[in-house]
Amino acid sequence: MTPYNIDAAAWQESWDRQQEAFMPDREERFSAMLDTVHAVTGGEWPRVLDLAGGTGSISLRVLRRFPQARTTLLDIDPVLLAIARASLDDRAVVVSADLRTPDWVDALPERDFDAVLTATALHWLPLDRLAALYGEIRQVLRPGGVLINADHMPDDGLPGLSQKMGDRERARREARYAAGAVLSWPAWWDHVAKDPTLGPLVERRREVFADRHGDESTPPVSWHLDALRRAGYVEVGLIWRGARDAAVTGVR
Ligand SMILES: C[S@@+](CC[C@H](N)C(=O)[O-])C[C@H]1O[C@@H](n2cnc3c(N)ncnc32)[C@H](O)[C@@H]1O
Repeated sequence: MTPYNIDAAAWQESWDRQQEAFMPDREERFSAMLDTVHAVTGGEWPRVLDLAGGTGSISLRVLRRFPQARTTLLDIDPVLLAIARASLDDRAVVVSADLRTPDWVDALPERDFDAVLTATALHWLPLDRLAALYGEIRQVLRPGGVLINADHMPDDGLPGLSQKMGDRERARREARYAAGAVLSWPAWWDHVAKDPTLGPLVERRREVFADRHGDESTPPVSWHLDALRRAGYVEVGLIWRGARDAAVTGVR
């Protein structure tokens, strides 16, 4: 029984469409994540932490592919958490916590995860905080468990080409917004604000992110690999690479 009077599946689909407009290869990175979880656990009872999990896109895919899985979704956005709580069943635990401080670890109901999965989220953190977070995540993984962070991470060797691929993606996206094919990020939030259930949570969201000034940290992939090594992961590398995004992995 959901405490939120919303059509969870419809909002989930709406979020996914809006995110896919940013990342046409979003499903590819999710598939690579799930393949890695399968390799690490044999698909048996995976225990996954969906970090900055938003509406639950990753948790839902984990639970669909591995019906015996258990996931913990952590986020701080009251709107996206409401959609996540309405979408996920009792195989998932949803917690509200802030990754800007190390206290998020105390909000977890359990540790020793097989995998910590996160996508398109950690670029909001300053780099010194992200480096520290990589270490904190390692502490909640079981030995042999994996962190996978999929985010905007250009290839160090292709600065000019990465720029051109980014320009091409942006032009394609703007054309789709202009044609009304899909909602942009601000248009999606305007849409949420009009919903009788989710709308009142938008003001709380503004308070949560009041000190965010739009700064993003998107260092190249080598920065992430170095930070993971320094955080103590025994193997580090890429499990997926797109035009300007990649999924880095660290094995505890
Ligand atoms: C673009 S969304 C991606 C959500 C989800 N991973 C997905 O791929 O659909 C970025 C997420 O990061 C979360 N986030 C941003 N800053 C955060 C923080 N300080 N603590 C926890 N979550 C945060 C946002 O609330 C949002 O859910």
